[in-house]
Amino acid sequence: MIGTDIFKAAELLKQNELVAIPTETVYGLAGNALNTIAVAKIFEVKNRPTFNPLIVHIKNIDFIHHIAQNIDERLLHLMQHFSPGPLTILGDKKPIIPDLVTAGSSKVAVRIPHHPMTLQLLDLLDFPLAAPSANPFQYISPTTAQQVEEQLGNKIPYILDGGKCKVGIESTIVGMEENKVVIYRLGGISVEDIEKVIGRVILKNQSIRENNSHKILTSGQLEKHYAPKKPVIIGNLEELLNEYSSVSKALILFGNKHYNFNSENILVFNLSPKGDLVEAAARLFETLYLADKSNTSVILCELLPDTGLGRSINDRLKRSAKKFIDNN
Ligand code: TXA
Ligand code: MG
Repeated sequence: MIGTDIFKAAELLKQNELVAIPTETVYGLAGNALNTIAVAKIFEVKNRPTFNPLIVHIKNIDFIHHIAQNIDERLLHLMQHFSPGPLTILGDKKPIIPDLVTAGSSKVAVRIPHHPMTLQLLDLLDFPLAAPSANPFQYISPTTAQQVEEQLGNKIPYILDGGKCKVGIESTIVGMEENKVVIYRLGGISVEDIEKVIGRVILKNQSIRENNSHKILTSGQLEKHYAPKKPVIIGNLEELLNEYSSVSKALILFGNKHYNFNSENILVFNLSPKGDLVEAAARLFETLYLADKSNTSVILCELLPDTGLGRSINDRLKRSAKKFIDNN
């Protein structure tokens, strides 16, 4: 059931039920982070393997010390700078956080979501919320309440509708290794913006294979994630349009470059005709979702400029692709 009743959402969460919540990045599938039963339900509803840990959502920066300790000053500084917002930091978990939340890791991931309804909801609760993206494991992350309803509606009692997610791409995850700041997941805050605040960082985003010598990566070589049911093919669009001329296709464009589509079996999306990466991020998952639902057999797209949020978008596109042709 979809609605806007924050009190109802709070009551359900207090009873260790799950509620889908809006955030600025994507919708989350939330449960009481301190209750093992609620957390176990999250894994079950998402069909997610329990070795994949969950992010804990808190209402303000002071709360972080209830659940984490030994947090590096640079991470706290980032948190102060970007929160509430699409940033997740890692700290040593306190015993109050069940091992199931962190998949047995001694680190806990924490963030303050930037959405008025969810901040109000957190205010009504005396516990934080564990929340992965509200999609079945490996499928596209939802950016509207309706998408959550279509994907998980029959498995959860309530979906709090906070409209379309403004950022549209998950939070950037940062932690520490050997006294250096490491980015584990590219996301809603760009590497450049993080480096403006704390200087150089190390990128360990798992699926990025920069300078790789492979020309073609198949799904087996890339971590599959954010994946539509139909094939996503990334490459040079002009070449792909030729190669797939006889096939019905969804095309995902960016910017105002002109293509000659000389066939009728094309559905065209543009992430941002004016070439704005922030707008493109906000539209990415919805576009993949609509393309996947459309009456076409493949999704063709090109990588975006690899700067700012373009890097985060490219990361998601590569992981969603069954076949990725690297033209560089
Ligand atoms: O924007 C977001 O972060 C969204 C919204 C709902 O807040 N949440 C989200 O959660 O993307 P999820 O579960 O789809 O992705 C969480 C990522 C996973 O890749 C997980 O491996 C990583 O965070 N993660 C969580 N806890 C961790 C930990 N203790 N150490 C390392 N990585 C962790
Ligand atoms: Mg996810």
